[in-house]
Amino acid sequence: MCGIFGYIGDKNASQVLVQGLLRLEYRGYDSSGIVVRNGSLQTFKEIGKISDLTSILPKMEGSIGISHTRWATHGGVTKENAHPHTSEDGKVAIVHNGILQNSNKLRKRLTRKGIKLSSETDSEVFCHFISIELQKGKTPMEALASVLRIVRGTWGLCVLFKDYDMILCARNGSPLIIGRSSDEMFISSDPHAIREHTSEMFALDDGQIARLDREGFEIMLPEGTPVESNPLELDEEWGVSDLGDYPHFMLKEIHEQSQSLKHCITGRLRHSSGSANLGGLEITPQALSTIPHVRLIGCGTALHAAQIGQLLIEKWARIPAVSHVASEFNMNDPVINSKAMHFAISQSGETADTLSAVKEIQRKGADVHGVINVVGSTIARQCGKGVYIHSGPEQSVASTKAFTNMVGALSLFALKLGRGRSLNLSEGKRITKGLKELPKKIETYLADQGPIAEAVDAIIGAKNVLFLGRGVSSPVASEGALKLMEIAYIPCLAYPAGEMKHGPIALIEEGSPVVVIAPNDGVQDRTLNAIHECKARGARIILIHEEGDSIAEIGDINISVPKTHPMLSPLITVIPTQLIAYHTALKLGNDVDRPRNLAKSVTVE
Ligand code: AGP
Ligand code: GLU
Repeated sequence: MCGIFGYIGDKNASQVLVQGLLRLEYRGYDSSGIVVRNGSLQTFKEIGKISDLTSILPKMEGSIGISHTRWATHGGVTKENAHPHTSEDGKVAIVHNGILQNSNKLRKRLTRKGIKLSSETDSEVFCHFISIELQKGKTPMEALASVLRIVRGTWGLCVLFKDYDMILCARNGSPLIIGRSSDEMFISSDPHAIREHTSEMFALDDGQIARLDREGFEIMLPEGTPVESNPLELDEEWGVSDLGDYPHFMLKEIHEQSQSLKHCITGRLRHSSGSANLGGLEITPQALSTIPHVRLIGCGTALHAAQIGQLLIEKWARIPAVSHVASEFNMNDPVINSKAMHFAISQSGETADTLSAVKEIQRKGADVHGVINVVGSTIARQCGKGVYIHSGPEQSVASTKAFTNMVGALSLFALKLGRGRSLNLSEGKRITKGLKELPKKIETYLADQGPIAEAVDAIIGAKNVLFLGRGVSSPVASEGALKLMEIAYIPCLAYPAGEMKHGPIALIEEGSPVVVIAPNDGVQDRTLNAIHECKARGARIILIHEEGDSIAEIGDINISVPKTHPMLSPLITVIPTQLIAYHTALKLGNDVDRPRNLAKSVTVE
């Protein structure tokens, strides 16, 4: 969702900016634009892909500029609404990520002053107010600080001036990262876009502003107090990431799951003690024995991982656990117990709904552990404790390898909590063994994926697809349904298998595809009832089962995965659902990596 990239150096800015925009493309956007300072502020914008923007870009001099990918929140997807926005006198240009809550009022104020707004966006007000402040004789920094006092909402904001050789930035609730190399400065909402240029990065915090010029950068508070910024360490793998031999990032990331799960668990498993070592788990043994409950919070795929984490924690650590939809969390004035454990789960670490739940919990006096992929991201820093899931960069909008690593990391947490309480050594060892063997089993499955093509044929053209599972397979059903819906645009329902007869069964007609996730985990026999109930009404069952299991004969299309520890089965049963989604979308001719309307990180509430 929305991206910012800015550059100052000795290279041709428009070329560096376009390269930066291409690196932001995976996040999802609907229009883009750039502005370069070259005598005047030269602005170009276009709806559609970055390639649509480059097709209208002339050859341009100038070594300083800012650029944007927009994900519309206020005003339709039009060229006028795309960023940058420029003041009437052409002296100030801005790009903005986020939402201004009081933009209507501010737009009216500008109109009363006789200023003609040229877009429907909330963002445009920034450039006009900054320009008004400059006309009063203020410095660029003073002008920006004054405007930040009148706006309400969230911003990652960059400002370019016709008369000053600098970029000013401000952050409130929307990420901005500064990159520095020998004689170049970068600013971006996403470290991915900077990592290929330099590994020296610094994150802005909420409420801070920064000035970038050819000499370097300074970060300060709006009243001018300088602020020290901690460097952000990012592995090289976060730099340029290419498709290799794969046609899409999604397929590449599905295939990376064996390796990325290994990264997540290697070094953290303690087989001899049947436990896990998690440096980021900040809890004393005494506190551990008295935790009243655990809450896990996330959105979308991260929520499904949270739902599995909930079951693992309850099963192994015998602590009541509950997962929450992040966007609903604050709506209900939740009671927070400072002795409880809270987990925030997020691939991007920038999801606004999750971030605001974290802040609410902290405001009410409790700590939150992050389970995050992007190092140094806002939620990771806001939590200050927790673990990184180490999936490496995930570029496809549809999350795959981050899901398996979220579940992997949460299973380590559950194991560690369990071993600190009632889980016995031999069960602990069974779990560590199960986890250790999983990367190899994922590899084995991916080498022989079973009748995915047949499953796709059964699904294409269906009015809707029902996904069923119980126990730990119920969140897997939800994840499979989300994936198929996101990229194939087919309405999908996911239900705990036993709940199916209480309503969704009404949808079943001759040929209706029903995907059932049924590992041999002790709750399978009752999933069988649901299968029979669907079959009796003409459904075509796509069954995901464990190798050698007699249940295999029950499905119409049977996809077999290697057998694993019953509570760890989501780490492998989810993979066929990812492949079904991928191949269905592909066959429908959809843009698999960039599905319509979606964004990789959702930075608005
Ligand atoms: C996953 O395929 C989705 N694109 C989406 O549901 C995603 O998982 C959700 O927006 C949460 O993102 P996060 O993990 O970055 O917080
Ligand atoms: N709210 C702004 C708009 O609609 C910015 C959206 C974005 O973050 O891309 O233009």
